[in-house]
Formats: sequence, structure tokens, C-alpha cells
Amino acid sequence: MQPSPSGLAAIAPPLPRHVAIVMDGNGRWALGQGRERSAGHQSGLGPVRAVIEAAAQHGIGALTLFAFSSENWARPAGEVASLMNLFCESLDRELPLLQSKGVRLRFIGELSLLEARLRTRIDAAVAATAGNERLQLQVAISYGGRQDILAAARRIAARCERGELRSSELTEAQFAGELALAGLPDPDLYIRTGGEQRISNFLLWNLAYAELYFTDTLWPDFSAADFELALRHYASRQRRFGLTGAQVAG
Ligand code: IPE
Ligand code: IPE
Ligand code: MG
Repeated sequence: MQPSPSGLAAIAPPLPRHVAIVMDGNGRWALGQGRERSAGHQSGLGPVRAVIEAAAQHGIGALTLFAFSSENWARPAGEVASLMNLFCESLDRELPLLQSKGVRLRFIGELSLLEARLRTRIDAAVAATAGNERLQLQVAISYGGRQDILAAARRIAARCERGELRSSELTEAQFAGELALAGLPDPDLYIRTGGEQRISNFLLWNLAYAELYFTDTLWPDFSAADFELALRHYASRQRRFGLTGAQVAG
């Protein structure tokens, strides 16, 4: 087992194969310090780095981070602009770290809504890290779970209209294959910081059997040790998937 990046003891298995995180609480963190909300987004970068490093070090294969939702477009224009600037700057700056950690970066969401300069950087970062295999990192930007399911339904309906598929033969696996996270295992562990206990339109299909972990810690304060605490909680849970405890244990 790998030593822990935070210096704590290594984590007993099972470890999740895929962790999904709603990085919430940036605005409240900044306002609590008498600063602009955008300062909270800026300070959220440190925990992003820490969690990526910890996930890679513990051998977690996939990490999906919710950075900006479909609904976040309706925030004040200045906050949206500062977030888009932050995404642009951090993509350039963090690329060497991602390369050194063997991170393959991908983006999910309605990327066509992003400004061209950000899409150019996204394309470059995705291409540059395409050969990495240690950790699959998905960043959800302009992402909504309902929009994801609707887009999948439209593609499947189009295949039915073309006579390529009979609706009665559609399987769960085929449907999942049209979603943004196609090809990845479903998240085993869902973490939300910032105290709210809700999904906020994140991965609605894929979270069906995720273990949910909520913490009051605001995202800019979230550390590798906090991440490891969530991994320990996960390891202590019995996942039953509808079976009885005895069936699962037996
Ligand atoms: C999460 O923090 C980041 C984004 C949604 C972009 P918030 O900005 O939602 O912070 P709070 O919840 O208002 O504190
Ligand atoms: C969810 O947080 C989206 C991200 C963290 C990117 P929100 O702050 O947008 O969610 P609500 O509004 O509290 O549900
Ligand atoms: Mg929030």
C-alpha cells in the first residue's frame, strides 16, 4: 500500500475506484474573511491539487470534480467571468503537475457554451495528457446531470429513427454508453464539501449506488487529510446494492 501524502497511516481497503466531488463553499469561505467570492474560487485551487495528488498516490483510478454547473451560468456576470479566467489560467499553470502525476485530463459538460480561448486550452490540455494512465481526471464544467441524460436520450432516439436500434432492445449499458462518463465505472464515493446535503444536478444517472459523504468543511479548507478521512468512511461501509447484509457478507 502507498504511504499517505498527508503523513497519516495508509488506508485499509476497499478503496473506491472512482470518486466524484462537489467542491462547494468557496463563496462563503471568502465572504467569511470579508473578501470577494472570487477569492474563494482562487483559493479552491490548492485543494484541487491536494486531492489529485492524494488520489493518484492511493491508486484511485478515476476522479470527477464538479467545477461549474449548467445552473451556475445564471450567477452574476462578474463571478462567471472570474471563474472562466481562473479555469484558463489554471489549465496552463497546472499542466506540468498533471503530467508529472500521470493524470489524463478530460472535461464533461456543455463545452460549446465556453468562450473560444478556454476551449482552445481545454483541447490542448486534453491532447497533452491523453497518453497518461495513472489517474483519469474529469472536470465537469457547464455540466448538468439532467442535460447529460437528455443529450443521451436524444442520441438514442436519433439511432432509433434511423432504424439502427429498436427501442425495446435498449439496455442500461447502451444508455450509459451515451452519457458523459461512458467507459468509466460509476463513482463509488460521492463527496460534497460546504455543508449542503444535495446533489445539485451532478451525475444523476451515475450516482445511483454511490456512497454519499458530506462534510461542513468549505472547499478552500479541504485537505488531503480530509480526503483520506472520506476514504476511511467509505471503507467502513457495507455496500448492499439491494441485497441483504448476509448475502453480501456471505
Ligand atoms: C462552489 O462554491 C464553486 C462553484 C459553484 C463554482 P460556491 O461558489 O457555490 O460557494 P458557496 O456555496 O456560495 O459558498
Ligand atoms: C454545485 O454547487 C456546483 C458546483 C460545486 C460546481 P452550487 O453552489 O451551485 O449548488 P447549490 O446552488 O447550493 O445547489
Ligand atoms: Mg455553492
